[in-house]
Amino acid sequence: MVQVFRCKICGEAFVANHKSTHCPFCGAPVKFIVDAKEYQEPEVSELTEISKKNLEFSFDLEINAAQIYHCMRKKSKDEFIIGMMKTLSKVELEHAEVIGKLIGKDVSCKIPLKEDLCTADRKESLEKTKELETGAVEHYKKFLAEATEQRVKDIFEALLHAEQDHVKITEENL
Ligand SMILES: [Fe+2]
Ligand SMILES: [Fe+2]
Repeated sequence: MVQVFRCKICGEAFVANHKSTHCPFCGAPVKFIVDAKEYQEPEVSELTEISKKNLEFSFDLEINAAQIYHCMRKKSKDEFIIGMMKTLSKVELEHAEVIGKLIGKDVSCKIPLKEDLCTADRKESLEKTKELETGAVEHYKKFLAEATEQRVKDIFEALLHAEQDHVKITEENL
């Protein structure tokens, strides 16, 4: 049966026959995907100072990654890299948007192309991606452990899961 589903992390909706294993927009695992009829906007409690600091850091981390992937996508001649970076840049931008909502920061929907952020080389691109994703995983593990607010915990759990998948896909293709 075709249904509308919604992701409790990024709030995006999609039409599908079954819940997919991940949110197609932010990569959150299936436990965060609900029937759109049951969806409720997540409530956010007052943020602790540590969460504010971690979320600010994560926002910049996501924007930086999105910009680099966008550059790789535009420069590469390799269709696999073009496809992979097209989705990664969108996913990381979605992550920045999720985080931005909590700290009152807006993401401009267009990422300016900075040519000097990457090269067209496939191996270099994948190595840089691995470095970025591994760094994100390390940070999000720490931030998840430090979070006390349910919403912040959920976000870091979902993002950690998404970035771990990005590490896997990168390593499998290096
Ligand atoms: Fe991300
Ligand atoms: Fe990622």
